[in-house]
Amino acid sequence: MALRLGDTAPDFTAQTTQGSVKFHDWIGDSWAVLFSHPKDFTPVCTTELGEASRLKPEFDKRNVKIIGLSVDPADSHTKWADDIKETQGHALNFPLIADADRKVSDLYDMIHPNANDTLTVRSVFIIAPTKKIRLILTYPASTGRNFAEILRVIDSMQLTDKHSVATPVNWTHGQDVIIVPSLTDEAAKQKFPGGWKTLKPYLRVVPQPK
Ligand code: BEZ
Repeated sequence: MALRLGDTAPDFTAQTTQGSVKFHDWIGDSWAVLFSHPKDFTPVCTTELGEASRLKPEFDKRNVKIIGLSVDPADSHTKWADDIKETQGHALNFPLIADADRKVSDLYDMIHPNANDTLTVRSVFIIAPTKKIRLILTYPASTGRNFAEILRVIDSMQLTDKHSVATPVNWTHGQDVIIVPSLTDEAAKQKFPGGWKTLKPYLRVVPQPK
């Protein structure tokens, strides 16, 4: 059955460029981003992995581990890593799962046969420390992902998990947020003593809580 938000991320053991990983143990108390790419030695994937490596300190700051996957073997990943460093200026600094037997791809439904019956699509799973899946994205092979967007969603989820707020369209860290409709004005007074702006009874805007 397809994975959905709120499901427990399936656990697995797999070989990676950084040795064997038992997924849930590897996540530990962190958040995790598991993302697949279609194939080694392909241009868009090369740019994505360079960018993810460049942004790794930003993921670290948010207590997020990142791990990539493709259906190529580990020795291929390792050779490809040299090209990533050479062309993108950032060495691969997180594990890449070698999923030649498609065990993990099948578990996470990353092969979409009507798009391509052998290669993984560009899937993204964001997983909380509880091991619950909090976000699922699927991109076609021809479109590289926006890793700044992945960081933005993580900022939103980490904020909204702590406070009774939701983040509006195109929100980025530091901008105003919305008080969740389930919070009454009475309860909101306790949580947001500095006040808020009511545009509609269901649309109350408040500075981002610290
Ligand atoms: C790429 O990463 O460049 C790519 C991979 C598979 C199909 C098309 C592009």
